[in-house]
Amino acid sequence: MKMKRIFFKNSYQNYATVFSCQQSGEAVVIDPFRAGEVAHYLQTSGLTLKAVINTHRHADHTGGNRALLESWKCQVWAHPDADAPGQTHAVQDGNALYFGATMVFKPKYTPGHTICSLCLEVNDTYLITGDTLFHLGCGNCKNGGDVKTLFHSFKNVLASMPGHLVVLPGHDYRAANARFLKSLSMDTGNDSTHEESILLSQERKRNPFLYLSDPKSDKYSREKFLEMRALRDTW
Ligand SMILES: [Fe+2]
Repeated sequence: MKMKRIFFKNSYQNYATVFSCQQSGEAVVIDPFRAGEVAHYLQTSGLTLKAVINTHRHADHTGGNRALLESWKCQVWAHPDADAPGQTHAVQDGNALYFGATMVFKPKYTPGHTICSLCLEVNDTYLITGDTLFHLGCGNCKNGGDVKTLFHSFKNVLASMPGHLVVLPGHDYRAANARFLKSLSMDTGNDSTHEESILLSQERKRNPFLYLSDPKSDKYSREKFLEMRALRDTW
């Protein structure tokens, strides 16, 4: 299986992620903000798009759905409450989706940023986190979310995910999140590590939202988690 990050150069700093099976030539795209860049990659790589999966309903993650559906007659998967553009299938928590000969996507419901947010464990190698978890941060809850629910998702879902997974968020907010943590004199680790090689185990050491919500951590504190999220909202 091959993984390709497609970065949309705009103020949103979104990523779409394409997974493809080299044996079957089939591909799955996560969170296509726009169809054009995704279609270009698929065409130049000789891939057939079988499915779109959205991590949540926000337009900067679903904007390319309809055009891709029209061109490729693909499936469009999202949370049952997402009502995503062109949605054809509803993801169920924990029910794996199989594509091509080599691709397995295990959805984990992680409400908080929105009620329909989910993460995807891919081939026991990658963790797609949408707008739930970012490098050195987490998603805000300003557009249909709830911060206490977000804390529960971190505590009950992310804290027990395997540490060897590579964390792939829906936006590149790492530099801004690092500046925020540095403004609080907090350690942000090695800034030069390539984002496609940051493991969940590494992220757990320096992302306060992860260690504050992990019952195994000596820094565990629901109160501080909520306080940090509120501080980041006004920073
Ligand atoms: Fe979002």
